[in-house]
Amino acid sequence: MDIYFVLKFLHVIGAVVLLGTGAGIAFFLLLAHRDGKPLVVAGVARIVVIADLVFTATAVVAQPLTGLALVWHVGYSLSEGWVLLSIFLYLITGALWLPVVWMQIRMRDLARAAADKGLPLPDAYHHLFRLWFISGFPAFAAVLAIMWLMIQRPSFALF
Ligand code: HEM
Repeated sequence: MDIYFVLKFLHVIGAVVLLGTGAGIAFFLLLAHRDGKPLVVAGVARIVVIADLVFTATAVVAQPLTGLALVWHVGYSLSEGWVLLSIFLYLITGALWLPVVWMQIRMRDLARAAADKGLPLPDAYHHLFRLWFISGFPAFAAVLAIMWLMIQRPSFALF
């Protein structure tokens, strides 16, 4: 096993974890929300927060490390358009993901409090859910665009 294979294997696993966890979290929280029961939302949001911290956070840190190691190992230039654009899109995804983590923690706490008091999900929860839902689209689109750039590696210059 050479270093190239190890780096690429880890990088592709990271991509799978990012996409898979993102899609899975969106699916489970959306379905729990549609169920509408505070106890269900609180339970699913609790697991979603753990999944994001264990899987997504690990991949978020590892992905640029293995990516940059591949750039160096294969001999690409950091000024190549597809590399630069991927890094830019990755930063945008991160900027969207961090508030999403906070929203999930808040939604979990609000749902838990409502469940404990036997109340319906409060307005603050519904407001956060809408923001969470809307943030998911550009973040997911950016990750799909990165996937395309990584696989196609089109030759173009940004500057
Ligand atoms: C954040 C900065 C990133 C850098 C610097 C980077 C860098 C690279 C490099 C240099 C390669 C080519 C390796 C080769 O020539 O064999 C590559 C491949 C790949 N990258 Fe990234 N990457 C980054 C982020 C991502 C992200 C966020 C994803 C997906 C979520 C991703 C998915 C992939 C995949 C699937 C491949 C394999 C493509 C193929 O062999 O057809 N990368 N990456």
